[in-house]
Amino acid sequence: MALLSPLPPSPWPRFSEPLKLAVLASGNGSNLEAIATAIAQGDLHAQVQVVIYNNPKAKVAERAERLGLPKVLLNHRHYPSREALDQDIISTVQAHGADWVIMAGWMRCVTQVLIDAFPGKVLNIHPSLLPSFPGIHAVDQALAAGVKVSGCTVHHVELKVDSGPIIIQAVVPVLPDDTPDTLQARIQVQEHRIYPAAIALAASQMA
Ligand code: GRF
Repeated sequence: MALLSPLPPSPWPRFSEPLKLAVLASGNGSNLEAIATAIAQGDLHAQVQVVIYNNPKAKVAERAERLGLPKVLLNHRHYPSREALDQDIISTVQAHGADWVIMAGWMRCVTQVLIDAFPGKVLNIHPSLLPSFPGIHAVDQALAAGVKVSGCTVHHVELKVDSGPIIIQAVVPVLPDDTPDTLQARIQVQEHRIYPAAIALAASQMA
């Protein structure tokens, strides 16, 4: 059971042109797949122009391949600074014709360089009800604190990690026998539901 935040009914607002997304991911890529599915089903009027990943072994690379999406590896270890990585991200996003930066499990701190390049168009998803439990191991943090509800948040990105104006949240009850894995799994179900809707909502608020 989840205490669901209301979402605008799908299909969500259509724009004269599909939104051009660049998805940044470091790991599994299930949120990338949820976004691609919402697009394929006609719920989200958008295109994933490129998937950028920073870890050569990330499973998201296989997913992008299977989904037929262009992918680019930008290995953060090869850059002298966070700004230099972000500058290359900007160039890659622009070279692929995208202007929305969708962070979906992107495990790097971004700099003002990236935020300023796409004003209002850099989004992130986090597995807690922000502003509670920012940073890594958010699900473990929530369990350790003994909260009775947790959830997930899609927000605009600001410099401070996991901060910025909130777009959509979904609430997930914490069950007495939850482990980090079981709670994370139920939170992810809600992440996959709210991220495509949040992208549409953010875009409609800019129009
Ligand atoms: C999600 O739980 C997201 O909230 C966090 O990283 C995880 C990424 O999951 N930022 P996936 O790679 O999309 O499966």
